[in-house]
Amino acid sequence: MGIETSVAWRELRAHFEQIAELQLNQLFVDDPQRAKDLSLEDQGLFLDYSKNRVTRESIDLLVKLADEARLLSAIQDMFSGEKINKTEGRAVLHTALRAPKSSCIELDGIDVVPQVHAVLDKMAGFSEAIRSGQWQGFTGKPIRNVINIGIGGSDLGPSMACEALRAYSQRNLNVQFVSNVDASDFAEAVQGLNADETLFIVCSKTFTTDETLTNARTARSWLLKQLVDESAIAKHFVAVSTNTEEVQTFGIDPQNMFGFWDWVGGRYSLCSSVGLALMVSIGATHFRAMLGGFHAMDEHFKIAPLAQNMPVLMALLGIWYNNFFAAETHAILPYDNYLKHFPAYFQQGDMESNGKYIDKSGTEVAVQTGPIVWGQAGTNGQHAFYQLLHQGTKLVPADFIGFAQSHNPTLDHHDKLMANFFAQTQALAFGKSSQTLADEGVDAALIPHRTFTGNRPTNTLMAEKLTPFVLGQLIALYEHKIFAQGVIWNVFSFDQWGVELGKSLAVEILQQLQSDEVSNANVDASTAQLMARYRKDRAAS
Ligand code: F6P
Repeated sequence: MGIETSVAWRELRAHFEQIAELQLNQLFVDDPQRAKDLSLEDQGLFLDYSKNRVTRESIDLLVKLADEARLLSAIQDMFSGEKINKTEGRAVLHTALRAPKSSCIELDGIDVVPQVHAVLDKMAGFSEAIRSGQWQGFTGKPIRNVINIGIGGSDLGPSMACEALRAYSQRNLNVQFVSNVDASDFAEAVQGLNADETLFIVCSKTFTTDETLTNARTARSWLLKQLVDESAIAKHFVAVSTNTEEVQTFGIDPQNMFGFWDWVGGRYSLCSSVGLALMVSIGATHFRAMLGGFHAMDEHFKIAPLAQNMPVLMALLGIWYNNFFAAETHAILPYDNYLKHFPAYFQQGDMESNGKYIDKSGTEVAVQTGPIVWGQAGTNGQHAFYQLLHQGTKLVPADFIGFAQSHNPTLDHHDKLMANFFAQTQALAFGKSSQTLADEGVDAALIPHRTFTGNRPTNTLMAEKLTPFVLGQLIALYEHKIFAQGVIWNVFSFDQWGVELGKSLAVEILQQLQSDEVSNANVDASTAQLMARYRKDRAAS
């Protein structure tokens, strides 16, 4: 039986009927303490969730829901290495990747922490060698370009974090990311680069992902075209993977491989060797500071009571809108240009984790699960899609993320950025009434168009500055939010079977596209027609 049969769910349903029409305007007037009470802070990361359509009773009932879903014991199970990823028979221990050296986390009777730190140390040595120029390419030149070849979790995390922490990067290193099997991605990344100054990090948990291996083979040919000698590979290719055999088959020496473990999910792998490109860019000290931020949030999630637990509260508010207000999407809106890839990162993090209609017992869920996650950095979004956020027919709960200090303080740019940041959540929550417009003398015909209903919910997250530590806190916050929601919806958040069908059909279709015979076996009429058109136009080129 699903969560919808729980007592808390039924109480929430009844409560929703009572408060659905409540206005944030009124809630703030009635309760001068609201902003203060519906806020919390953990190690410098501040969450104000007072601009949500909740009362204290709503929060109590939502916490009761988490209790009924046995969230506390689920958290305990994850942290202690239970094999909670049942459909793949694996533990889920990304939290061990950021555990201090002194901790002990056992999996099948073996402490994994020393392995984690051994890999971190190896990464640190390698990063330092690249950064200092001590690692020389085949012709004796230092490395100037580092290109990570990976996709999904083996790309989005390090590329998002490299951008987020660009202010901490070594500027004479050009770190890039190639993910798409579209050759234009690779071609543009290597445009104008010298192979003897370029290092490829082939990053793939399985080392069987077609896009990554195709790009890696193309990179190999590109490199050998310039350097000719096969022995150059050892100086210009390293691998990040759990699969030593496939790494060797590709032709990369296991000495140049940085391992991780099957208990690290791809989209939760940034703190593992998947973060190698990031460590090369920002150095081991900043990377470890980031791990510190992750760990701080892990501890908060593990220890804080549910009603004062940041990831849990954000998870519950998400469920409130998703399941009771029928919101279909959730926007992440960072007001920091360095976080421009953060929404896309958590598109995978959230949608691959909780985009599931089958629950843990193998039956169809009776309630909505993961939302569509989207967003982009402010203020750009304001001039694109905020019209719909303010006056559209859809309810879009949103998280606003901002910082008190800029990495590039210039004139009054930052005050302007933050003025917009504050103004937007204020406008969304409180709107502008037709009465106010009439009082201002606005033409009666225009009043409906210029009215803002308000009552549009947001969370606001703030920290002093976007540092490595804060980035770690933020990422772990969303990771745990996603986990908590998955527990309540009772879905397996750590598998991703939904990506398999498309992959296997692509293999069959590729065979057909590359064969001279048109068989159209297992191909429907529409797809056959599209493929025929492709063959015809391809030939014309
Ligand atoms: O898209 C499916 C997926 O398995 C993701 O979960 C993963 O992050 C990505 O492919 C890449 O996988 P790998 O690291 O094994 O190449």
